[in-house]
Amino acid sequence: MSNWAHKHIIDLSSFSLEDYKEVLELAHRFKRLPQTGSRKLPALQGRLIATLFFEPSTRTRSSFELAAKKLSADVQSFTPSSSALIKGETPLDTVLTYVAMGAEVLVIRHRDTGVPAQLAKYLDQKNKKVSVLNGGDGLHSHPSQALLDLFTLTNYFDNSQGSPESLLGKTITIVGDILHSRVARSNLWSLTGCGANVILCGPQSLLPEDFSRFAEEPPSEQKEDPIKKRGKITICRSLKEALNNTDALITLRLQKERMSENLISNLNLYHEKYGITHQKLQWCEKKIPVLHPGPVNRGIEISSELLEDNSICLVAQQVSNGIPIRMALLYLLAAVNN
Ligand code: NCD
Repeated sequence: MSNWAHKHIIDLSSFSLEDYKEVLELAHRFKRLPQTGSRKLPALQGRLIATLFFEPSTRTRSSFELAAKKLSADVQSFTPSSSALIKGETPLDTVLTYVAMGAEVLVIRHRDTGVPAQLAKYLDQKNKKVSVLNGGDGLHSHPSQALLDLFTLTNYFDNSQGSPESLLGKTITIVGDILHSRVARSNLWSLTGCGANVILCGPQSLLPEDFSRFAEEPPSEQKEDPIKKRGKITICRSLKEALNNTDALITLRLQKERMSENLISNLNLYHEKYGITHQKLQWCEKKIPVLHPGPVNRGIEISSELLEDNSICLVAQQVSNGIPIRMALLYLLAAVNN
């Protein structure tokens, strides 16, 4: 029986180990579907899911839409440039329009931190039977990306079960533009929540010292941390030192569009110090997998050769794993509104 208690998924600070288990187990079942001869399930037939991306997206939006279609839901998407936003309509009125059409799950991406949470709160106050799933807000949170990263890593470490426990005591390094990354913030909740220790690696301008205390306390609106013992977060400025001591690596895009000033003066120098290449991976004690949420700046945070080396780089697996993970999330949220 499901113990699922989340009406909305805004970030992962409120996820318990049971929540991670439930999502990963469901994703496993969905991933195995083609092997059982069924490519599509009737589970959400006739239910409406809306993808409202107020900020550009390639993989997250398509992946949510495909996931919804594989569960036989009706999917309605929205493109800001050809919508009434251009005439001055607010995100709230856009959302209410889709709710009036009967949408039961809204996947919302917005460039400003907090917008999905505010919209969810408003809909709850109005007693609307609709769930909000955060598709990425500002620098705050990107839960579905962190969950698909978790799924990819647990499958790597434990290919028969892929359970969250397989991360217990492992060390995962996240390298690059952590300051501007909502993915890294969500990764920090999920990885430490499953007992992994995280090394954050990057220059001071993209990785302030206080990130080492990131997961020490839950956000103010949350009473307590559902995880009893989280893994540790440490900061390491030297990539060589970090790699010497890690079981997996997540590298991040330099997010220039989110920088208020030019924080990186020389991209070649950045690549030299923090760009991931086959050569630098020789600093690792053993063969480790490399992940990247995409989109990628080839030759800056990762070399083209490594990006295309599927024996080490799991980017393609991350993208394909995004579909069963998002099927699991949509399935769980649609069940709350039954
Ligand atoms: C990320 C995002 O939008 O936060 N991309 C994604 O969803 N796969 C990371 C990024 O923009 O660099």
